[in-house]
Amino acid sequence: ANDGLAPTPPMGWNSWNKFACNGINETLIKQTADALVSSGLAAVGYVNLTLDDCWSAATRDSSGNLRADPNKFPSGMKAIGDYIHSKGLKYGIYASIGTATCTGKTPGSMDHENQDVAKFASWGVDYIKADRCNVPTGADLAELFGRWLPAIRASGRPIVLSASDNGGVQEPWSWGPYAAHQWRTTGDIRDNWARVLSVFDGNARFPGATVPGGFNDPDMLEIGNGGLTDTEYRSHMGLWALVSSPLIAGNDVRSMSSATKAILTHPEVLDIDQDALAYQAIKAADDGAGRQVWYKPTRQRGARAVGLFNRGDSTATISVSWSQIGLSAGSATVRDVWARADRGTFTNAYSVNVPAHGLALLRIVGTDPPLVSGYLSDQP
Ligand code: GLA
Repeated sequence: ANDGLAPTPPMGWNSWNKFACNGINETLIKQTADALVSSGLAAVGYVNLTLDDCWSAATRDSSGNLRADPNKFPSGMKAIGDYIHSKGLKYGIYASIGTATCTGKTPGSMDHENQDVAKFASWGVDYIKADRCNVPTGADLAELFGRWLPAIRASGRPIVLSASDNGGVQEPWSWGPYAAHQWRTTGDIRDNWARVLSVFDGNARFPGATVPGGFNDPDMLEIGNGGLTDTEYRSHMGLWALVSSPLIAGNDVRSMSSATKAILTHPEVLDIDQDALAYQAIKAADDGAGRQVWYKPTRQRGARAVGLFNRGDSTATISVSWSQIGLSAGSATVRDVWARADRGTFTNAYSVNVPAHGLALLRIVGTDPPLVSGYLSDQP
């Protein structure tokens, strides 16, 4: 949505990928808030701390309001929000556009959108993940998700809206830009390599929907959850940055390895994700044998963020030519983003060895694009 709330992809942490339904409670959320600050994740942008499914009680209160699960959040939902805010973080909460949440255990918000958003606003909520589950057969998701921003406006509180059309079942890119600040395009990510690849590929279907203000969402990060190698996690991070995805960490930030922290906080990778142009990278080349080139323009004139992606199971040499990424023939400088090292000036193309499942992430800056000769004089 073009309302200034999300000029670049939202960043934060969410409880679901690591803790799912049973691990979420007041202690975890407070410790996570503390750890987001002490680890430095908050300082580099991971500020939206979102409580996913299973925070709420199985029934509404006597006034019809959603309420905390008293065993998990005995101090209540305003108190946990106050704690999150006291750490300088923003408070995110999960809801469902249907009649129940996705675990089916707690009430959804369908036909209660205004009441529930007003209640969230009274708790100090800054970010809502509205999920798609238990909607009536044949429901129009554009209409159901479309109820939320008006409810947010009516609440008077600026709240970022994540429309979690898990599965991307009704062309979310066709209504997401109007209805939300980010919209899921695929089924749920899992902490395994095949699934990371499949959600990345699913998200590539309509890159044009991503603009400053609203973003295709290939789902939250699994970095640090243990199912991938660090090389694969670096690829996961680099690919999400190339496509200007929201970056919602999904690991246990209270006990992450230094490698996990380095992947999540790499400043030049975050710069690629948060680039003000907010383009979603597109595929420039694919040899059909696992070697791919992905790229997007970034704000600096003549600059491209480029990923040389080796999906194969052994080391491969991958090349990119300037013509594949919209740069003029001639010289261009190449910087290795992960290494934070300039590789030099190259003519027309660059090649590098990429390990199995690795992503060489580059910044390639060409000479300024020439003015199109005759353009002005061609005008009538
Ligand atoms: C869906 C969403 C997940 C998570 C669960 C919670 O599957 O896609 O991200 O929110 O629901 O039940």
